[in-house]
Amino acid sequence: METLTKSETEEIIHDNQEYTLFSWSKQKGTNPIAVKYGEGVYLYDYDGKRYIDFSSGLMNVNIGHGDQRITAAVVKQMQEVSYVTPSCVTKVRGDLGKKLAEICPGDLNKAFFTLCGASSIENAIKLARLYTGRHKILTRYQSYHGASIGAISASGDPRRIPVDVQQAPNFIHFDLPYAYRYEYGEENLLKDSISQLERMIAYEGPNNIAAILLEGQSGSSGCFLYPDGYLKTVREICNNHGILLIMDEVMSGFGRTGKWFGFQHHHMVPDMIAMAKGLTCGYLPFGCLMVSDQIASKYDDVVLPLGLTYSAHPVSCAAALETLKIYEDDHLIENAEAMGKYVDSKIEELKKKHPTIGDWRNKGLLGCLELVKNRKTKEPMAPFNAKPNEMAVMNKVAAKIKELGMYTFVRWSYIFIAPPLCVTKEQIDEGLEIISQAISIADETYAG
Ligand SMILES: Cc1ncc(COP(=O)(O)O)c(C=O)c1O
Repeated sequence: METLTKSETEEIIHDNQEYTLFSWSKQKGTNPIAVKYGEGVYLYDYDGKRYIDFSSGLMNVNIGHGDQRITAAVVKQMQEVSYVTPSCVTKVRGDLGKKLAEICPGDLNKAFFTLCGASSIENAIKLARLYTGRHKILTRYQSYHGASIGAISASGDPRRIPVDVQQAPNFIHFDLPYAYRYEYGEENLLKDSISQLERMIAYEGPNNIAAILLEGQSGSSGCFLYPDGYLKTVREICNNHGILLIMDEVMSGFGRTGKWFGFQHHHMVPDMIAMAKGLTCGYLPFGCLMVSDQIASKYDDVVLPLGLTYSAHPVSCAAALETLKIYEDDHLIENAEAMGKYVDSKIEELKKKHPTIGDWRNKGLLGCLELVKNRKTKEPMAPFNAKPNEMAVMNKVAAKIKELGMYTFVRWSYIFIAPPLCVTKEQIDEGLEIISQAISIADETYAG
């Protein structure tokens, strides 16, 4: 494969930095990898350097990079028709709707196709309010639901804070502590979390609450695991008050946790599922809001006031249908479960070697290490919502990870481990060796 000279690579980076804006970044502080191509779990830059992708892009490229089966499906669709209005139908749209109904449990049989995670969430919020005639939406503080104004207002994550002066109204956040930092004994966490939520519902007035919105499995906030029984009890609370339950499976869906959807570990069925990311694995932007028959039937004889120019885009539908086939043909969901267990066992070994590993939270291949300065005090290596000057050690860890040829998501004191679901044991070993070397830098500052 042809590689560019250093100055050509620098020119690519220069033009990107000069003429485009970077998300969630100080524009002068970016240091991007110039990616030329991807193959499986690897990305390659223009100088031929290989990076193992341990966060599957933004936890979306579940099938791995460069899969030409998607290219073929997309080209075939484009040769027939690239765009029809959402009032027309295509074979691929019907096939995809039918396949999603087959995958989703219960009576979640109707797909409203969107463009991304945020647009799935926006439509979920809108539909929950329309359907119930209520206005409040309850979500968790440590959650992320997207960057559009409704979705960012729904998010509890501090990415909301810079824009919260203009936030959309009627989003109420509640706390759900996580086991590692819960001071009153893990055995009390479920009871405490549920009674806190019940009090909050009473204070807010259950008849004003349209929906509770929760991630199927916590993602970028820190991969927190729900206490056993939590989601099932929330489902019961929703039933008791006529509140809808929306699961955000944008990150946790499509095999990421070792099942089609994260909530399927918890023996309950929501009223709506917001999807994106793993639906097309980033080969094209796409999303879907899956809705129960009960909710959809309200709009049999009443206008459904939702719409997007690119809803059910035929080319994205073709990419999604082929992606779903790949999950099944390549047994990727089974592999995610097996490789997740392998990662768990390897992290147990790393914990013995690295005193700064405070916690490891994982389900399937959606996992995160939390580094601490001291295991007894649990003081984090970088605090929650760390300022740049509080990131000195973690920035060095992140820089080492990159230098050694890995791309992954490092946030505050967290290092995410979420490789594509096609990852092998050998590739996990290769990636964990890089992470281990990087953590050694943090170990030098250990204060235990
Ligand atoms: C759980 C969850 N919901 C929604 C979103 C928003 O998706 P998008 O960036 O495609 O709008 C994300 C993105 O990371 C996410 O992790």
